[in-house]
Amino acid sequence: MNPSKRIQTLPPYLFAEVDKKVAKAKNEGKDIINLSIGDPDLGTPKPVVEKLYEAAKNPDTHHYPSYVGMKDLRLEISSWMKKRFNANFTDDEICVLIGSKEGIAHLPLGIINPGDYGIYPDPGYPVYRTSIMFADGNPIQMPLKEENKFLPDIDELNKKIRNLGKKPKLMFLNYPNNPTSAVTDLKFLKEVVEFAIENEILLCYDNAYSEMTFDNYAAPSIFEIKEARETAIEIFSFSKTYNMTGWRIGFAVGKSENLNLLKKVKENFDSGVFNAIQIAAIEALKSKEVESEVKKNMKIFEERRNVVCEKLEEFEAEFEKPKATFYIWIKINKEKFNGKESVSMKFCDKAIEKGVVLTPGVGFGEYGEGFVRIAITQSKERIIEGIERIKEMF
Ligand SMILES: Cc1ncc(COP(=O)(O)O)c(C=O)c1O
Repeated sequence: MNPSKRIQTLPPYLFAEVDKKVAKAKNEGKDIINLSIGDPDLGTPKPVVEKLYEAAKNPDTHHYPSYVGMKDLRLEISSWMKKRFNANFTDDEICVLIGSKEGIAHLPLGIINPGDYGIYPDPGYPVYRTSIMFADGNPIQMPLKEENKFLPDIDELNKKIRNLGKKPKLMFLNYPNNPTSAVTDLKFLKEVVEFAIENEILLCYDNAYSEMTFDNYAAPSIFEIKEARETAIEIFSFSKTYNMTGWRIGFAVGKSENLNLLKKVKENFDSGVFNAIQIAAIEALKSKEVESEVKKNMKIFEERRNVVCEKLEEFEAEFEKPKATFYIWIKINKEKFNGKESVSMKFCDKAIEKGVVLTPGVGFGEYGEGFVRIAITQSKERIIEGIERIKEMF
């Protein structure tokens, strides 16, 4: 069978290569510490799991769900948006997703025509670029550079798009950021919203890590900028906040005219999230017990971050202590790892030899080259053991 051009033009999936190397090391009987996974280890809060048991026992939940999600869940999300960000959205302006990845992957199909431009951050969550390509669009790279604290340079972006001769239609943006763990503030978001309005771009703000923050930093919503309502949709996830990666549930928020672009695609392609999971998600949003468990979990991540950062400082690694996410983005000492091939890949290969799996920065795009990502999604002891094993590599 001949694969489609779509498949053929995909960039190599470096994470699959890493997986192969890990499988080989495991076969050789090595003790592997995996610090590459963006999947929290702490387990879903008990009241959410119990709600799922209860709901799943009721045959009424076993039918096809609604395309946009249960009204009760959308109403709960609406209250959460109000409470958390003082943002006003009716239940019609909310759409439940089969995980935020699904929404990101489907959105370009609702707005991109063949050849249209879509902007994606580099380094960034790989699905942004791929989804633009799968809609036959032209992905436009938006570098996130260390000297700009991993925020895009909007002046540079303006220059770039003037040279395109045609305005882009879509832009993905993500803070707190995967993989760099950079955060942002309302001043910068205002600049982005103005840019999007001026250029008539649909801004897709991916806020998957909105609740994974430390040191009393609260991540903003794009909708804290009033004008964003005109130009943006925002995507949230239950995966990271509630340790629900396997449940596959998230949601998108935006005024109907914008959100309908996504809803139309979804109506034709998928059949929603299992109702019992949606009922459990209501519990996640409204239960006080869950709220305090989430706070406790964030303290655990914060403590892990503190001890890991202390160790990394001791080993003279070059990095910024993250204020959010469960990632630490480290600049590789190029003197130790130079050569023709990717420094990121070389670093990760060497780490696997020592029984530690890390994510090569270049897997997130060209501008991730020279960096490596550590995820603190294992016990404190295992993470420390892992970075001890590779300490002379920094
Ligand atoms: C930035 C970002 N967005 C979205 C997702 C997808 O999350 P989910 O589909 O589990 O909601 C991830 C997962 O790692 C991510 O890092």
